Amino acid sequence: MLLRAPPQTLWPSPRPRLLSPAPRCSNSNDAQPSPAPSSQTAAAGSVRRLVLPPEGRAKLDPRPDRDFYAFPRLVTHVDDGFIAALTDLYRERLCAGWDVLDLMSSWVSHLPPEVPFRRVVGHGLNAQELARNPRLDYFFVKDLNTDQQLELESGSFDAVLCTVSVQYLQSPEKVFAEILRVLKPGGVCIVSFSNRMFYEKAIAAWREGTAYSRVQLVTQYFQCVEGFTQPEVIRKLPSAGGSASVSPLDAVMRLFGMASSDPFYAVISYRNFKPM
Ligand SMILES: C[S@@+](CC[C@H](N)C(=O)[O-])C[C@H]1O[C@@H](n2cnc3c(N)ncnc32)[C@H](O)[C@@H]1O
Repeated sequence: MLLRAPPQTLWPSPRPRLLSPAPRCSNSNDAQPSPAPSSQTAAAGSVRRLVLPPEGRAKLDPRPDRDFYAFPRLVTHVDDGFIAALTDLYRERLCAGWDVLDLMSSWVSHLPPEVPFRRVVGHGLNAQELARNPRLDYFFVKDLNTDQQLELESGSFDAVLCTVSVQYLQSPEKVFAEILRVLKPGGVCIVSFSNRMFYEKAIAAWREGTAYSRVQLVTQYFQCVEGFTQPEVIRKLPSAGGSASVSPLDAVMRLFGMASSDPFYAVISYRNFKPM
């Protein structure tokens, strides 16, 4: 039964798709499809230093995360403005034909619906949510706070995505080392987040931080692993609440609860082609 799947079982999604050859990327940015994995890609990125002190990893709710996520939450965790910003970013940075890993995923996908990927693998903690995600070709369930190893081939993904979930990782250094390992050289990792969270399940360093320190934290998760490029930060903040900065349209949208208010942050890094 799906819910009791042993960790790391790769379930085909209920909507299996045939794998097609990867077409060339025609996006205007300079990210290109990566070369085939070499023997170099087999080496996992080593963790240079720990970012978090032990107390920074603590959660208010110490119950196993799998219990917390045992029932499916068929909700969206951020507002439409955030999702639109994220999908646009994916449109810019991800290419058709890529192999994509959506870490800490759920029943919704933020991938651009018009872009055909070669393979989208999802990971999360609730199999029922993942089975409903329309973009996943495969998925697996694994608690990354009990074991960080991804039983996925080294150098096998062009992109690894993690949306509004990084705050729940208690051993982010090891998870980011695994992300580096599974990325192809030149592959991209995009970690996005806002200011919402399951407060009792977020680590102390996140809960007690500010927007600025959270961006710093994710930046350092990349920097602590040998082999990532210097992270790039994207911020899109909703317009300030003061009447002077709110357009009449915004004011009307807010009146009807339709204005975007979740700030958007993304930290992006690539796997270096050669060790630095
Ligand atoms: C706020 S939801 C975000 C889901 C999805 N990325 C999205 O954008 O809708 C947080 C997700 O983090 C994942 N998660 C939380 N704790 C986890 C853990 N210890 N190990 C693996 N995944 C975890 C759960 O699968 C959950 O769906």
